[in-house]
Amino acid sequence: MTKREQLDELNNYWRENCVCELKKTATQAVFGNGNAESEIVFIGEAPGKNEDLKGVPFVGAAGKFLEEMLTGIGKKREDIYITNIVKYRPPNNRDPEPQEKEDCNLWLINELKIISPKLIVFLGRHAMTRFFPKEKISKIHGKLLIKDIPEFGKKQALLPLYHPAAALYNGGMRETLIKDFKKIPKALEKIKSI
Ligand code: URA
Repeated sequence: MTKREQLDELNNYWRENCVCELKKTATQAVFGNGNAESEIVFIGEAPGKNEDLKGVPFVGAAGKFLEEMLTGIGKKREDIYITNIVKYRPPNNRDPEPQEKEDCNLWLINELKIISPKLIVFLGRHAMTRFFPKEKISKIHGKLLIKDIPEFGKKQALLPLYHPAAALYNGGMRETLIKDFKKIPKALEKIKSI
């Protein structure tokens, strides 16, 4: 089976079997999207209003900003794969609760195992704390980290960044995110030489 076919099977399974409470209020599940063969996976927080309606991650203002930053490093959205910690929209875009993240966790982990990317980029603290629960995004943003992930059975390269929605209207954070984002090509080069 191709990675795409495996992802389709995974999404069909979890769409039926996920017990996340958010299912009750969301319009639909928002699956990860993009190139299943990508060497980079971006992980956001949770779908917002536009994503919930369209069933596609990062299609609102944060997604537009993300696409601009991708252009800045010579990539298109179709080149990469993007998903969320939680697959259903929290009401009024509130933060996802720990239990909601837990309920969507196996879905995410298996998604990542299928794609097996060289680099995982966290967009914001919710993605970061899944793998680094004690860290602060303000401290480790823009730093390439290598960590043994037991579920993956291998060392994984990870790059925490600020969330584009948080940075969108905050001048300083926006500059920092744009600067950190430009580290992605170098990070990929570095990983290949490890
Ligand atoms: N913010 C996220 O974290 N994910 C989306 O899909 C959209 C906005």
